[in-house]
Amino acid sequence: MGKMAASVVDYGEDAFRKIFKFYKRRQPPPDFSKVVDFSSGPVSDKVVSTELDPTSVSDGEAREVGLRPVREWRAFGLQGYPGFVFISNPFAPGSQPVWVRQCLKSYPQKPNVCNLDLHMPPGETEDIWGKSADALRCQPSGKRGPKTLLEKLRWVTLGYHYNWDTKTYSSDSQTPFPADLHSLSSHIAAACGFSGFSAQAGILNYYRLDSSLGIHVDESELDHTRPLLSFSFGQSAIFLLGGTRREDTPMAMYMRSGDVMVMSGPSRLLYHAVPRIIPTLSDSDDLIRHYPPPEGSTITGLVTAKDWEVCSRYIQNSRVNMTVRQVLGPGQSFPETQSAERGCDRVSDRGLKKK
Ligand code: OGA
Ligand code: MN
Repeated sequence: MGKMAASVVDYGEDAFRKIFKFYKRRQPPPDFSKVVDFSSGPVSDKVVSTELDPTSVSDGEAREVGLRPVREWRAFGLQGYPGFVFISNPFAPGSQPVWVRQCLKSYPQKPNVCNLDLHMPPGETEDIWGKSADALRCQPSGKRGPKTLLEKLRWVTLGYHYNWDTKTYSSDSQTPFPADLHSLSSHIAAACGFSGFSAQAGILNYYRLDSSLGIHVDESELDHTRPLLSFSFGQSAIFLLGGTRREDTPMAMYMRSGDVMVMSGPSRLLYHAVPRIIPTLSDSDDLIRHYPPPEGSTITGLVTAKDWEVCSRYIQNSRVNMTVRQVLGPGQSFPETQSAERGCDRVSDRGLKKK
């Protein structure tokens, strides 16, 4: 009762929506002083340092996927949000470009599915990178030519492909999950205490500076005891983490390039949203500063200087987010009848929305 009264008095029933709009507002720009910034350590009284298990992932395994040794990671929790873990950029210097390149050049390729497939003939979405790279490379920064396919890319799905209409996954729509992202995800999950995690579905979101992601819960996965992992690259986002009820007042935090978020346990099914992208990335950021990587780094040979020219230009005004999910628990399978009607009558408030 007391809790309810507080949220109604402060923000009315739709506190989440109000705060979403507050951070999305352009003119006048909002006050960002209440946004939790994990990159400056536990400054907010709600932020607590979290110990991860440094023996869960060997240094070699970590290095293979571009991560620092687990003992060097800075991980945080939030008071009142058990199961929520924020890992402040655990990537080794020079390895983020590899993941950015995967998100832009490799993962949008067939057989993965992307938003462009919904309104373009198959032949035209076959080589998004190839059709965009030269134009992006030649585009003088700041000046805009016609939008390339890469700039029109909004989402890619991996593994069990999420059906946006029915809000379900199914065995009928599945392609192999990328092995490199599978390992990265296993290691992150293991360090957070989830040793059996197996990445089965991925949703990659591609944000421009004016994009946002509506208020939602990720509940389509059938095993909610498995964590949901989220990786952020490129420009920064304001991420809002709410409660189990739509009207609960959310907390705002920065998600910067390289940051990883784990939603597990009681935090697995919390409402969340991205109201705003903020261009904070500068040439002094890790991501830009450490390219080209030092000779001999294991996974870095993958990004050529030519690739990076395109990637670095793209992320100047974009953010890429990978969310990785385990859909089924061990031995679990999809229900016999996947009614296509299920969920169709619900208005979707999810999806990348432009202004
Ligand atoms: C999602 C999601 C958040 C983000 O894809 O379900 O919540 O940070 N993404 O982009
Ligand atoms: Mn989500």
